Amino acid sequence: MPELTKTIGAQYLKNSRFDRISVQHRHRPVIAGAETFKRYPHAEKFPLPRKWSLDEQRLTTLLQNRRSLRKYSVEPLSLEDLAFMLWASQGITGQAGSYLFRATPSAGALYPVETYISVHSILGLDAGLFHFDVEHFSLDRLTSQDQAEAVASACLDQKFMARAAVIFLWTGIFRRAMSKYGDRGMRYILLDAGHICQNVMIAAEAIGCGGCPVGAFYDSELNQLLEIDDQEESILYAASVGKKIAPGI
Ligand SMILES: Cc1cc2nc3c(=O)[nH]c(=O)nc-3n(C[C@H](O)[C@H](O)[C@H](O)COP(=O)(O)O)c2cc1C
Repeated sequence: MPELTKTIGAQYLKNSRFDRISVQHRHRPVIAGAETFKRYPHAEKFPLPRKWSLDEQRLTTLLQNRRSLRKYSVEPLSLEDLAFMLWASQGITGQAGSYLFRATPSAGALYPVETYISVHSILGLDAGLFHFDVEHFSLDRLTSQDQAEAVASACLDQKFMARAAVIFLWTGIFRRAMSKYGDRGMRYILLDAGHICQNVMIAAEAIGCGGCPVGAFYDSELNQLLEIDDQEESILYAASVGKKIAPGI
């Protein structure tokens, strides 16, 4: 039981936390930058084709058009929109024996990432915080108050988030992966979260929405909002999503 907090992975997460006081005067080590592109000037070059004849035009368009969006229409999302994004995030898409596979990959199929949402403007769903129950493809209501402002405030006061229809909040339950992989499990947990967020960003694009991944937040504040303990489970990543503003408006 006590080992988890002593791992390098847990210490790393603790030491890289933001809070409102230390964020102002946190010691930042002076580390020289690196080139934006890695180049092999002497290597033989193989130019890649920029067109491909797949019938995946739709996917190509989605990938091409995805941009982090920080201005949202006031138009609410439908419950179907939300369900589609949640399915894309972690919906169960397959089974092999007792393993249930999901829409995004996970090291060892351990799925250490939990999804919560702060609902602001979804038709047919009153605002509040919810937990996504992957197993039953349903939502568990945690609070009935609109927490969008509080979440945005906890995300270094990034006010655009409060105007999104929904904010996704991803946490890690560290033991799920670290009991198998030890410190290396922390890497896998963070990688899993990246996969999940990207699927949501692409799914958002597919339904006329846009999203913005958010990695800047006061960890403990979000953990408190979610009523999670900071050690066994802690916030990893967030993203706000809303409808795009129609051109000309
Ligand atoms: C790990 C991560 C954390 C990020 N955190 C924030 C954030 O806190 N606030 C924000 O406005 N954008 C954030 N972004 C979005 C980036 O600014 C954005 O992806 C980048 O500018 C590239 O633009 P694009 O997403 O439109 O291609 C984050 C992106 C990533 C991948």
